[in-house]
Amino acid sequence: MPSSRSAFYAAAVVVTQVAVAANVRTTTPHMGWNSYNYYSCNPTEEIIKANAQALVDLGFADLGYKHVTTDCGWMSRDRDSEGRLQFNTTLFPSGGVALGEFIHGLGLKYGFYSGGGYLQCGSTDLPASLGYEEIDAQSFADWGGDSLKYDNCYPTDKVLMADYDSAEAASPARFQTMAAALDAVDRDINYFICQWGVGTNVGAWASAIGTSWRMSNDIYNAWRSIWRITNQVVPYYKYTTVGAYADMDMLIVGLNALSLEEERFHFGMWAINKSPLGIGAPLEPSLAPQDSLNILGNAEVIALNQDPLGEPARLVRRFTEEEYDIWAGNLSNSRLVIGIANWRNASQTVALDLGSLLGVASASARDVWAAADLGTLSGAQTLQLAGHELKLLVLSNVVSSSDSKPQAAGYYTAASGATLSGQAAVAGCGANTCLPAGQKVGDIYPGSAVTFGSVSAATAGTKLLGVDFINYEIALATAWDWGSNTRNLTVSVNGGAAKRWAFPISGGDWSDTGRLEIEVDGFEAGSQNEVVFAGFGSNPGPDLVGFEVFE
Ligand code: GLA
Repeated sequence: MPSSRSAFYAAAVVVTQVAVAANVRTTTPHMGWNSYNYYSCNPTEEIIKANAQALVDLGFADLGYKHVTTDCGWMSRDRDSEGRLQFNTTLFPSGGVALGEFIHGLGLKYGFYSGGGYLQCGSTDLPASLGYEEIDAQSFADWGGDSLKYDNCYPTDKVLMADYDSAEAASPARFQTMAAALDAVDRDINYFICQWGVGTNVGAWASAIGTSWRMSNDIYNAWRSIWRITNQVVPYYKYTTVGAYADMDMLIVGLNALSLEEERFHFGMWAINKSPLGIGAPLEPSLAPQDSLNILGNAEVIALNQDPLGEPARLVRRFTEEEYDIWAGNLSNSRLVIGIANWRNASQTVALDLGSLLGVASASARDVWAAADLGTLSGAQTLQLAGHELKLLVLSNVVSSSDSKPQAAGYYTAASGATLSGQAAVAGCGANTCLPAGQKVGDIYPGSAVTFGSVSAATAGTKLLGVDFINYEIALATAWDWGSNTRNLTVSVNGGAAKRWAFPISGGDWSDTGRLEIEVDGFEAGSQNEVVFAGFGSNPGPDLVGFEVFE
């Protein structure tokens, strides 16, 4: 075992506190280029070489884009007499070691692709690695491979390619088998798990064996897939850390699928979540717009992604009807990043109070996309956002004010003390689940409600509520349609207007609680506030564990 691997393993154990298999981990989210989003499963050696060369020529390599991954479609139908995968020599006349030498000669890394099932994704006859893990890991090492993207197609047979329901599709076992096989070869290989988030607790097992893991079904060439994947990544801050990164999928920047504003949003959202950044655009000036290439090449946004602290930003506020989110997280050197995400496709003005939101009394601010220093900011800010803009602010020289954030002022458990109506019903949960209550209320269908009759507030007006909810309706089969990874509830106070809130994915299964912080108006001073959570539209809401009032 190379010593670098052992050293890295030790570091990985410290940061993730789990030890299933040794792996070579990247210390920042990996960056590179992947053939799939543009060339689908039809790559050729010429295409790979041209794009690798362009990574260098266009300056992307110097910015950190190093991993050149040939996705589906590189191999021949038949393994050789010793059971080894073979390059398709029509498409890849040299392939193997020679292609690796070309890529390495450019100072780049040689990325392989296979899968843990019976056949490869996007094919009906190309062999995948099930049962051949050791042989294939050895081939990737012999060819000089530096990384392996490992996919999840055909998990049960050679017929059903994308299966989101079988035990095999959800099982960590095949990914662990390949992790062990990679670990046994005498070459450092980064392991990029591509399981799509099927099953439960994927962040827990995948972060233990891979330096990145895909947590969603594939990105799609439309704005709505940005909303879908963003809602799914919300709980993964629990697992993303130095050496282990939730992968939001390859970028669609430069594919003429989004407006430039939306491309900045997409790139920025991936960056602050510490997702790997894989260029999916063809790096050929006549094919990818220069403005898009400039977005991919924005060094300040890349620096947010590659920040050595490795801490993803978190969704800290959601304003569903107003259609914006606020994301925030720590950066190295005691800096903060704030992402204000305008989901509305029209400009709007939003308020952001640095004190109550982040406990920041004052800070030097930089608008990252504008590449402009904003001077010292303190208190309430008013921000203009274009439609589908993600404004990124970096705060430095932060002066904290510990008393400006609202303080916890009472917890209300849904399963006890609230009145349930319609189909809403208490559901029991296993030990140490559905925290903090240990129970939840489910089936909050339209026409159903959970009513809290005596909620205390010291003063009248708007309160911050930390809503503890559970939503694990992950959009897999619905990913290419309108699956959004959200469930909705309305909240009304003292008979006021019922306002809608879209709850993202909360955790790793239907008993893993997430918290969404929302600002709700209509409270009166006193202990008799009535707060009603109700089903909305035509689908059930998230399950409700309880909520905390902050004042
Ligand atoms: C799966 C993966 C994609 C891509 C395709 C290839 O869908 O998630 O990233 O590799 O297979 O067919």
